[in-house]
Amino acid sequence: MKLISFRMGLVTLLAGGMVAACSSSAVAQDAAATFKAKCAMCHGADGKGGKMGTRDFASPEVKAETDAQLTDIITKGKGKMPAYSGKLNDADIKGLVTYVRSLAK
Ligand code: HEC
Repeated sequence: MKLISFRMGLVTLLAGGMVAACSSSAVAQDAAATFKAKCAMCHGADGKGGKMGTRDFASPEVKAETDAQLTDIITKGKGKMPAYSGKLNDADIKGLVTYVRSLAK
């Protein structure tokens, strides 16, 4: 009896882990596609910037900004950077911040 419930627990755990792993890579792919479609024309596909006065995401200035600041800039816009609140949901924006950080490496 105990063994069965232990096994069930293990199966649930494994299934849960697989779902979590799949959905997080789906978000990463979405972020890459969204970035290409909506952001790359100003920030460059590699995030190196240069167009419209954008900075390299790998620059010390951008690295010094917190995730909360980057989220704020994407959500509300800043200067020539358009606001994306209403166009992208919170999860999309969170994924984009992670993606921006990955480009900075
Ligand atoms: C029309 C051009 C344009 C588009 C499109 C654009 N950005 Fe920007 N973005 C800018 C500019 C210009 C800045 C610098 C704003 C400033 O500091 O005045 C900026 C700043 C940022 C920053 C803050 C980093 C920094 O330089 O301080 C992030 C993060 C960012 N953009 C992400 C995105 C994402 C993600 C998208 C797509 C959803 C996007 N941007 C689309 C022009 C653009």
